[in-house]
Amino acid sequence: MKNIVILISGGGSNMAAIVKTAQRERWADCYGARVAAVISNKAQAQGLQFASAQGIVTEVLDHRSYPSREAFDAALAQLIDRYDDPGQPVLVLLAGFMRILTPGFVNRYAGRLVNIHPSLLPAFAGLHTHQRAIDAGCQVAGATVHRVTPELDHGPILAQAVVPVLPGDTADTLAARVLTQEHLIYPQAVAQLLQKM
Ligand code: GRF
Repeated sequence: MKNIVILISGGGSNMAAIVKTAQRERWADCYGARVAAVISNKAQAQGLQFASAQGIVTEVLDHRSYPSREAFDAALAQLIDRYDDPGQPVLVLLAGFMRILTPGFVNRYAGRLVNIHPSLLPAFAGLHTHQRAIDAGCQVAGATVHRVTPELDHGPILAQAVVPVLPGDTADTLAARVLTQEHLIYPQAVAQLLQKM
């Protein structure tokens, strides 16, 4: 079985969308793949409850317990590698995981590390994407699923979705509109990757 490990820090709605799509589309039968574990760097991440309720292994790895970014990433890799198998390399999905990863970590999972970012990359890498799109007068906004490379929020684009920016939008209303699209494109981009693996 090909294992998928999802990393979250908060609500975990993208993770939940992937888990639900995997169930609905029977990824176990179609691709021999399953969401094996959900790992959070925050114990309070609400997404952990959803994952446990689905019978998925959950782990908390608090970055504050580690002296450096490198030490945290090494511990994270050790956890993830429990699900790695040379014949069936683990697929690692970042879903609202609010940590900058070291080049060592990113290179270790090169080609099997994917992220979703709430902007139309290459526009608005980094934080506060929705407010920045509104402030820039953008008429459209959106989300991007991309492979992760050492440079933050770069890497080859796998999927994008576009939504309008409407008069009177706030960062919150725009974020909610973008999020509904994230829940569609992230699972579909993962399914396409699984087809090719
Ligand atoms: C999403 O907008 C994602 O693109 C961004 O953080 C948000 C996480 O939402 N990186 P959730 O935790 O998946 O609900």
